Amino acid sequence: MLSKIIEYFQGSSIPTNPEIKIDQELLSKVIAENRSIQSQISNWIDREAFKKSCFNYGVPDFIEVVLNKELNNEPTYTDIMKALAYKHFGDLNYLEIGVSVGKNFHQMMNIEMPASITGFDIEEINPILTTILTQKDKSTWNTPAKSIKKSDSSLTSFLYKSTPVDYLCADVWDQNSWQKLENRKFNLIFSDALHTPEAILFEFEMIVKYGLLDDKFIIVWDDLVGKMKNAFFKIIKKYDKTFGIQDVYLLNINGWVGQHEQPHSVGIISNFKL
Ligand SMILES: C[S@@+](CC[C@H](N)C(=O)[O-])C[C@H]1O[C@@H](n2cnc3c(N)ncnc32)[C@H](O)[C@@H]1O
Repeated sequence: MLSKIIEYFQGSSIPTNPEIKIDQELLSKVIAENRSIQSQISNWIDREAFKKSCFNYGVPDFIEVVLNKELNNEPTYTDIMKALAYKHFGDLNYLEIGVSVGKNFHQMMNIEMPASITGFDIEEINPILTTILTQKDKSTWNTPAKSIKKSDSSLTSFLYKSTPVDYLCADVWDQNSWQKLENRKFNLIFSDALHTPEAILFEFEMIVKYGLLDDKFIIVWDDLVGKMKNAFFKIIKKYDKTFGIQDVYLLNINGWVGQHEQPHSVGIISNFKL
């Protein structure tokens, strides 16, 4: 069972919902599918890539020791996102901001529906992912001097089976890099990069500025604790009328390493009823 919504947010007419309605049969099917996909890759850590990385792909030591462990059948945020995609979309246009080594991304790449999958991360794409992708095009540009990223930024197109997969390797603070996505329409966005209120507010401004939302959309944020939760409510308060936000959820749910760490505080909004 998904945990209950934990609080109401101030200053908007939309209450947070008590629970997300996902058919148990669908959720169980997705969980089985995802656990099987996860078993295809036994080691997510490429030591050479980690050595060259900005900050170890955002994998702290306490996560690294459990990163490759098997997950049980408790739902994770990936299971919820995929179940929502199956339930509501005929085609998935997915953007993940903060891909890391690609654990969640890989499960999304393997969704069984027509999809296009885009990742955005300051780290170069994990070589463990590129071994299963076919590279098409790559363009590069200068990274702003003030960024912690010291190499060029890039956008690389791949194919995974017949699914287009794009990887934007750039700093989320770099507006010029966001522009490379201009007018792509995403119906599911997962924000899981820099977990600061300023960063998620800036990201949302970029999503709006470059017209990245499809007519019907779901947005998911990970790690909404403390001031991050306030930033989530601030986004809703500022944009609920513009985008006609219909549903708001705040769930405690397992993350990328499942039962091997505490549940995450995950926020979800949509402009239609979930
Ligand atoms: C928690 S991990 C993402 C986990 C992944 N979404 C999953 O579920 O498998 C956070 C990622 O955000 C990236 N990140 C942190 N700061 C960033 C920045 N300024 N620009 C782009 N990516 C950033 C890190 O490189 C790291 O890979």
